[in-house]
Amino acid sequence: MATPSLPVIAQMPAVSNSGFRLSKEHLVVAVPVAVVAAVGGFLVSHYLSGRSCKKGQVNLTVSKDSPKVVHSFDMEDIGTKAVYCRCWKSKKFPFCDGAHTKHNEETGDNVGPLIIKRRDA
Ligand code: FES
Repeated sequence: MATPSLPVIAQMPAVSNSGFRLSKEHLVVAVPVAVVAAVGGFLVSHYLSGRSCKKGQVNLTVSKDSPKVVHSFDMEDIGTKAVYCRCWKSKKFPFCDGAHTKHNEETGDNVGPLIIKRRDA
């Protein structure tokens, strides 16, 4: 009658007073497996965080249901001066409402609006 083989954990050396001990044979297998698992885990988490991470987004509120936010104006319609937001914080986007000042104070950033004006204005 064949004796069923013991699970791997039962074949491992006993725990000594100094802690858990692994034989050389176990280390030969365990170290590469641990390295592959660590590298694989890092790569998977890095890939998943890159896919779902919103940290790189500058536009947090404007037309988020649109795949791209684009505004177009005719020069004739601008008048003598137009001030456009470049910080994406304005509640009047695409026009600047001064929200960049608070953003700069909170973040240490230095963004400001794009101002277009007629030379004679
Ligand atoms: S509010 Fe965005 S640049 Fe002024």
